[in-house]
Amino acid sequence: MANSPDHFLDVRNVSTHFHRRQRSQAPVVAVDDVSFSLPGGKPTLLTIVGESGSGKTTLTRNMLGLTPPTSGSVLYQGKDIYHMSSEEWIDYRREVQPVFQDPYATYNPFYRIDRVLEVPIRKFKLAKSKDEARSRMEEALQAVDLRPSDVLGRYPHQLSGGERQRIMLARIYLIRPKLIIADEPLSMIDASLRTVFLNILLDLRDNHGISCIHITHNLATAYYLGGQMMIMCRGRVIERGDMDTIVTKPSHPYTQLLIESVPSPDPELRWERRKQETKNLTEISELKTDVNACVFTGRCPHVMPTCHTNRPQFIPITPVQESACFLYDKAVNPEASKVAPARQASAD
Ligand SMILES: Nc1ncnc2c1ncn2[C@@H]1O[C@H](COP(=O)(O)OP(=O)(O)O)[C@@H](O)[C@H]1O
Ligand SMILES: [Mg+2]
Repeated sequence: MANSPDHFLDVRNVSTHFHRRQRSQAPVVAVDDVSFSLPGGKPTLLTIVGESGSGKTTLTRNMLGLTPPTSGSVLYQGKDIYHMSSEEWIDYRREVQPVFQDPYATYNPFYRIDRVLEVPIRKFKLAKSKDEARSRMEEALQAVDLRPSDVLGRYPHQLSGGERQRIMLARIYLIRPKLIIADEPLSMIDASLRTVFLNILLDLRDNHGISCIHITHNLATAYYLGGQMMIMCRGRVIERGDMDTIVTKPSHPYTQLLIESVPSPDPELRWERRKQETKNLTEISELKTDVNACVFTGRCPHVMPTCHTNRPQFIPITPVQESACFLYDKAVNPEASKVAPARQASAD
């Protein structure tokens, strides 16, 4: 996931600060120096996992051109998305499609669902005749397991959350973007339909060459997808690499805490509970964000003096996993070579 010119999406040192109402208070650092890339060519699935308030939505908005970062840049095929010509921007808006948390909020309640599919067909000239448009729509709905006769002609409120979210995927299927950026797409969907949705994302990658950045607080559903993973904690990426490796051998103490909190058979419940436990920590962090320290010092069982005064950089742990933790830094910790990532008994 290192940055290089042949990557088609490059997030470079992106930071986003929000001012508080009282200007005397330090700003909220929602995204703190995040860098990563998606490769060109082979379609990729990257899941970004982080608790509520860790900066996921802000980073999503940075990548979609909706919130300019305070510093750093987002490059698409080498072009800064905040400095594109109008033609380049139209291409970007077609090639990079968002899926939001609540599809209802993105629908106009006064228009029938059909319009969600008709507009892109017209805007992007995807069909030459009315009949062709109709068959493209039906094909797209069938691709996401919806029966056209069940949904066409209806209004958004007449569909379930899962159906509305799948209409968004049908729209994506029609537009055939190069990348989907989905921010918590599963939160309005019943648990029973989540795997249907995730399977559609896998199908879009494997059979249609569409990459996906999937953003979630839910490690259990993230694991279903596999692929690449980044763990965010208070605006920073603290561990990244191959999902299977990270989940079975998490190296960062924060990742270890997250994964410990998701035992089967009831992962979601425990995850919610852990979220409650760490809530105070997130709030404290909003009051003092020290750029020259590790974000996890408050809870880390291995904290060392250097963690309070220096910011850890990424260190390779395995060929497919990197961690921003001084525990693995030979220059700081003489025991570094002996520290092994925790092996999760339940996942082996
Ligand atoms: N528009 C905004 N104005 C002020 N603060 C914001 C704004 N958007 C997000 N934040 C703050 O930035 C932090 C990260 O929020 P967000 O990106 O929504 O995280 P997540 O999606 O991971 O829950 C939170 O502390 C949140 O309160
Ligand atoms: Mg969010």
